[in-house]
Amino acid sequence: MDHLKKPVIAGNWKMNKTIAEARELALNIVNGWTETGATLILIPPFTAIQEVRRTVNGTEIYVGAQNVFWEDQGAFTGEISPLQLKEAGCGFVVIGHSERRQYFGETDETVGKKVLAALNHNLRPIVCIGETLEEREAGQTLSKITSQLENSLLTLSENDFQKIILAYEPIWAIGTGKNATPAQAEEVQAYIRNLITRKYGKEVADYAIILYGGSVKPANAFSLIKEKDVDGFLVGGASLEAESFLAIAREALRA
Ligand code: PGA
Repeated sequence: MDHLKKPVIAGNWKMNKTIAEARELALNIVNGWTETGATLILIPPFTAIQEVRRTVNGTEIYVGAQNVFWEDQGAFTGEISPLQLKEAGCGFVVIGHSERRQYFGETDETVGKKVLAALNHNLRPIVCIGETLEEREAGQTLSKITSQLENSLLTLSENDFQKIILAYEPIWAIGTGKNATPAQAEEVQAYIRNLITRKYGKEVADYAIILYGGSVKPANAFSLIKEKDVDGFLVGGASLEAESFLAIAREALRA
């Protein structure tokens, strides 16, 4: 198991960018990134994966996908298989993003199946968990996190668990411009690491990568990454421009 360099900065482009636009963005990121010591992952829409993969060839920048189905092939119209993602050049795949859970009916159960399928094909899952505003206001944040982890992740073998990247994304902070404060992120992320310690031991927990996501920008990246249990970011909106994505990565590296 080779460990990724922390900080890990992943850019989720969501349903944005044509192939040509994706190539340009990837190229600007490649050309602008001269630093070492961090892990960058670009997560374009399916149609642009292969082109982005070509563009980052020969660099240390990785490519991921935004979703995956759990079967290898078959009559599943509109779905994409882990085999297809591997062939296109993905090393990572986002699973259980809150937008998938909210708009496309994904549950902890389907997340669990997707995680296993990805692992079977050597795709490293980036699994998103997080609470809604109502859950936070009702004091249910930590219980939500616990159930999301226990239902789909803490059942994995130690070996499999070590391949996973976790992303804590409070749903109320995604795309709203309202990020969690560093203290709010740290409270939950320390709690997550503690659950990992209890299940797999301290060494696994120390190496575990726990990203924060939700309105990360160059202006808030430094204060968030300074928290002990924030190992990097899953960036949405600010990953759509090379300049802001790279600025976030540099801020993360500066800490
Ligand atoms: P945002 O999205 O940075 O635009 O808030 C984060 C995410 O959805 O991963």
